[in-house]
Amino acid sequence: MILQEHSTKKNDQLLHEANQAFKNYFLNDSDESITAYRQVISKVAESIANQIKEQKQPYCGISPASLKEEIAAMELFPETGSSLNEVLDRTKKLVIESNISVYHPHCLAHLHCPTFIASLAAEMIISAFNQSMDSWDQAPAATMIEQALCDKLCKLYGFGPNADATFTGGGTMSNFMGLLLARDHYSKKHFNWNIQKKGLPPEANKFRILCAENSHFTIAQSASILGLGQNAVVKINKNVFEEDVIALENTINELKEQGLLPIAYVTTAGTTDFGTIGSIDILADCAHKHGLWIHVDAAYGGALILSEKHKHKLNGIEKADSVTVDFHKLFYQPISCGVFIVKDRSSFEFIRLHADYLNPESNEELGILDLVYKSIQTTRRFDALKPFIALQHIGKKKFGEMLDHTIELAEEVSSMIEHDPQFELAYLTPINAVVFRYLPNSTNEKERAAINNTIKTKLLLSGKAIIGQTTVNDKAFLKFTLLNPMTRLTDVVELLDEIKQIGKQLEQ
Ligand SMILES: Cc1ncc(COP(=O)(O)O)c(C=O)c1O
Repeated sequence: MILQEHSTKKNDQLLHEANQAFKNYFLNDSDESITAYRQVISKVAESIANQIKEQKQPYCGISPASLKEEIAAMELFPETGSSLNEVLDRTKKLVIESNISVYHPHCLAHLHCPTFIASLAAEMIISAFNQSMDSWDQAPAATMIEQALCDKLCKLYGFGPNADATFTGGGTMSNFMGLLLARDHYSKKHFNWNIQKKGLPPEANKFRILCAENSHFTIAQSASILGLGQNAVVKINKNVFEEDVIALENTINELKEQGLLPIAYVTTAGTTDFGTIGSIDILADCAHKHGLWIHVDAAYGGALILSEKHKHKLNGIEKADSVTVDFHKLFYQPISCGVFIVKDRSSFEFIRLHADYLNPESNEELGILDLVYKSIQTTRRFDALKPFIALQHIGKKKFGEMLDHTIELAEEVSSMIEHDPQFELAYLTPINAVVFRYLPNSTNEKERAAINNTIKTKLLLSGKAIIGQTTVNDKAFLKFTLLNPMTRLTDVVELLDEIKQIGKQLEQ
């Protein structure tokens, strides 16, 4: 009654009009909204399809300066908006037409994958329903699906019933979580010290994280964010192709003799540049013998578990205390999509917090699963839906064959490069990265580096190819990451010829 007295007819009318005006911008049950949604989705799908169909090279070649100019000329947050059609037309020109096409066979610089159609369908569902994975009441079925997939992944990698996992934004976050749990586990075990409550223990400046020379930079980044400092990271040997267990053993002993506290070893299953994989089995045994947590960074190589031919390269992964696997690399999922696995789910206690509004303890008593307790993110996308849909559609056998094909291609390309006097192969890859360099007549290393770097830049700025670069023993090398299963040998041969041509021109 009282509410009615306050609400005049005029107010009602104004509120109604405002609601109607706002409604035009949202997905809702009105016929207008549903029609607009259908129209916009098909318009965007059409633009994408046309671009993919017409795109002859992986980049249109527009320069950084022109891109900057075009963006600077735009009114990014105007006082009043324009029609969505107009905005989408501008976006088509600026974004869709100037994309780096991950579908093109000459896009092979990074661990940057083409994506399955099935996963693109999943992305539409993810964004339209906007489920958030922190609490069950924001994502009931999604929570159950993510948990079921996590359980399945733990099994797939050979872990026992105590293992658990969580989806993450990618390898950076998963590596960070591995080292966070390693640090907190060590402090609890050796000093009965709760870092979550008390901050770092007095001994923390002696903590050391060990890894090989070729480990990902996020190990040092994690050490820094964890308050241990980058200097806490000790590289066990200088060889970029190998993880040497004797070097690991010696380093652990040396550090202990100096009164330092090695807490964890990170082994990489698929190094970013070379795809190398350490002998996880032996490294894990050595780390455990000395009481270290072993984290396997399988961001790149983790997908090999689905290949009958190559899964043996991950032998021993089940001995890990924690594992990073990225779905947005060799599992061909749209960014972002990563997983962090932990051998003993009780380790998640180190990050568990309760918020009355989100995951009160009473929910646990009722058997309601709020996944926030396993994550360092609160609001989180339902990225698990992408592999959930894609893996059901493709199946293990076909997926494994795709991986096998990319590895075979990399082996063939490596062999061709090895037998061509104009190229030098750095290493025979166990996955699908091929690191090589063009060999000009000059034997001056500075000139060789300049020529290889210029080849890479010329290809990028002409839009013809996106290839990688790295250094091996301080020498500049080029890199093909052949993770696209649609790439044919002729595509790569064509690119190698182009590289030779540019190299020769630069020598003149
Ligand atoms: C071995 C390895 N670990 C971690 C990462 C970081 O992963 P992300 O880029 O998904 O954060 C990468 C990225 O390439 C990687 O190659």
